[in-house]
Amino acid sequence: MGAKTANRRSIAERRDDGEASRLVVVSNRLPFTSVRRGDRFRFKRSPGGLVAALDPALSRRGGVWIGWPGAEMDEAASAAEMVPPPRRSDKVRYRAVPLSRREVALYYEAFSNRTLWPLFHYFLARTEIDSASWEVYERVNERFAAATAEESTDRDLVWVQDYQLMRLPRYLRRMAPHRRVAFFLHIPFPSFEVLRVLPWARHLMRGLLDCDLVGCQSQEHADHLLSCAEQMLGASVNRSEGVAYFEGRPTAVQAHPISIDFDMFDRAAAKVGVPPEDDDRPIEILSVDRLDYTKGIPERLRAVEAFFDRYPEYRGRVVFVQLCVPSRTAVPEYKELKRQVDEAVGSINGRFSDRGWAPIRYLYRSFNQDELVSLYRSARVGLINPLRDGMNLVAKEYVAAQIEGRGVLILSEMAGAAEELKEAVQVNPYDVDQVVSAIHRALVMPEAERRSRMLALRHRVSVADVQSWVERFVSCAEAAADAGGAAAARRAAGPVDAVRRRLQPWLAARPTTALFFDYDGTLTPIVSRPENAVLSATARRLLRRALRTRNLDIVIVSGRSLADVRNMVGIPGLTYVGNHGFEIEGPGIEFRHEALRQYQGAVEMAAAELATIRVKGLWVERKGATVAVHVREVEDGARRPAERRAASVLRRHNLRVTTGKAVVEGRPPIDWNKGYAVLHVLALRHGVDWVSRVRALYVGDDVTDEDAFRSLRGLGRSIRVGPATQTEADMALPNTAAVIELLGWLASGAFEVDRV
Ligand code: UDP
Ligand code: G6P
Repeated sequence: MGAKTANRRSIAERRDDGEASRLVVVSNRLPFTSVRRGDRFRFKRSPGGLVAALDPALSRRGGVWIGWPGAEMDEAASAAEMVPPPRRSDKVRYRAVPLSRREVALYYEAFSNRTLWPLFHYFLARTEIDSASWEVYERVNERFAAATAEESTDRDLVWVQDYQLMRLPRYLRRMAPHRRVAFFLHIPFPSFEVLRVLPWARHLMRGLLDCDLVGCQSQEHADHLLSCAEQMLGASVNRSEGVAYFEGRPTAVQAHPISIDFDMFDRAAAKVGVPPEDDDRPIEILSVDRLDYTKGIPERLRAVEAFFDRYPEYRGRVVFVQLCVPSRTAVPEYKELKRQVDEAVGSINGRFSDRGWAPIRYLYRSFNQDELVSLYRSARVGLINPLRDGMNLVAKEYVAAQIEGRGVLILSEMAGAAEELKEAVQVNPYDVDQVVSAIHRALVMPEAERRSRMLALRHRVSVADVQSWVERFVSCAEAAADAGGAAAARRAAGPVDAVRRRLQPWLAARPTTALFFDYDGTLTPIVSRPENAVLSATARRLLRRALRTRNLDIVIVSGRSLADVRNMVGIPGLTYVGNHGFEIEGPGIEFRHEALRQYQGAVEMAAAELATIRVKGLWVERKGATVAVHVREVEDGARRPAERRAASVLRRHNLRVTTGKAVVEGRPPIDWNKGYAVLHVLALRHGVDWVSRVRALYVGDDVTDEDAFRSLRGLGRSIRVGPATQTEADMALPNTAAVIELLGWLASGAFEVDRV
């Protein structure tokens, strides 16, 4: 066993005195709901995305799960009877926290689901403010904290889930000051202007800032949380690091979008037959939701009615399947919604049904996963348009079940999933006309477009699945907890120190590190002529040294042609990725994208036409597989028109246009980019299961590097170089000098030092 393998085990499973470290998950709901039948309990699967995501992930990883078993406290039963009897094969142990009838009414139904739920989903008018329910919320959170303190030790990682338990960390910190505590919010985190409506908002913020790490579904939610910490508590916030300092300790606040067990859905889908496309049966359009007003079911039904009005030719040919899972049935808003939905379905079916055909098939019950997969498989369109949703796992599950890539996903831009699932047909769920048009577009969409969109979506979901979500979250939480002790030092540290501190434990947890550096703007400062972007002697020396460091893989990635970048760096033995990923060369790798030959003529013709443009300072760079038009030296006023003109020439030759820093480029219209190239290099060099052995870090400064940041989400880490911008990268460095400083540290292999 190598030094680093031993080190990895010490981080993941053991703390300093050799005792095992466990994951202790705390959520309001356990993955099962206990239902009394006579003198015994039966166990039903609990509803909702939290359980759907965590259950498979935790069953694989093992640990302790603390939560409410769903039933009211029962005088005649002990907490132990309310959980299934342990089996020898179980890796998870359950601990029930029973709730009294009053606690269910005030903590769960009232404060959690009539105050926090609507407020966090921006339904201000539905938000109830009631101090009696707040007090019970406090007491129940304290009781969950006591159970957690009892079940965990300082070696474990306690992972608190969701809005029902936001005060728990505060109590736990008092009971057990050195416990490592992380939190994940499954629903949106609202903006300051919305959260301030809640009289107890400050208390909730204090609860969260007692954690080492708070994870949100998106960067936007994490930014809201940091603003609230600053504005409500006066915490000092470092946005580029994603840290809030409060009461002398740091809390990392990060985006960790949750996902699904892709392989499980993919495998289950392969077992289900699918009717041929030319079958005479009506085409199915499917929606699956808990019956919740955030899901926009009445609004969707209005769109369904408008669809059959606008496109009568689809009557008899299309069926909307609406599956609603009963949810929170004791809460008045949910009862009212059920009435509304029943009525709307009845009215639409009454209006349009004809000779054995009804426009809506309405199912009101819970389906198991196999049944769901069959629904997903037979639906040509997945219509997932909630009014607001933290993530929406159904959207990802629908994608995972489309193994032939035939289905179309219509997705609300208000769902967290929309940030990742960019190739879906996105809609504003409030805009009924737009939803109707999207349904029509999905029905007439040519097969080639359907497949391109669906295959791209499948790729995204498959590389960022729930296993990688858990792994990434846990490793970030451990790093944050361990860094917490050095809070003061961390505050004083510069940007390279901060990045180093975050990277070190993460890198040390795998035996091999793959480093990807963009060239221009990352390893060398941007200059007006590309041939002047010469690598500094220090950078060249450090790259040479890195090449000699054991278990370190160095890849230079560039938009330049392969020959050009190889020539500029001039170090044999490194791997070079040129032309935005279309060409790759390195030890054991020789790759040219197969579609390049097909577009070579178009690239050459476009280059010839571009060369005829007469604008002072504009020049054309022929890069073989691609062509670039540089406008950095064009006068300010003439630059935009020149860019537009170049773009239109490139488009006329059917090339894909991208704009970078003062450069317009045309490349073959193929779904291939730096991100795909990075994953290709990793798979070729280390096998498709590289994630279990390799840490991949990408450093880049340009818009084209965003593709790589996106591809590595959940799989590796990334750093964006330059001033703060909208980016998918995990971390930031201010300039090339900082990159070279970081390279020095990486080349030294110092991150291998055991941190425990
Ligand atoms: N689900 C289920 N049975 C059903 C309908 C849905 O098990 O009949 C699952 C579905 O597979 C998904 C989860 O419920 O994993 C719903 O999660 P989502 O994030 O879409 O919404 P949430 O209910 O958490 O708001
Ligand atoms: C959402 C929430 C979860 C919750 C689930 C089901 O997914 O984020 O915390 O468990 O809905 O709701 P319920 O109230 O039945 O637990």
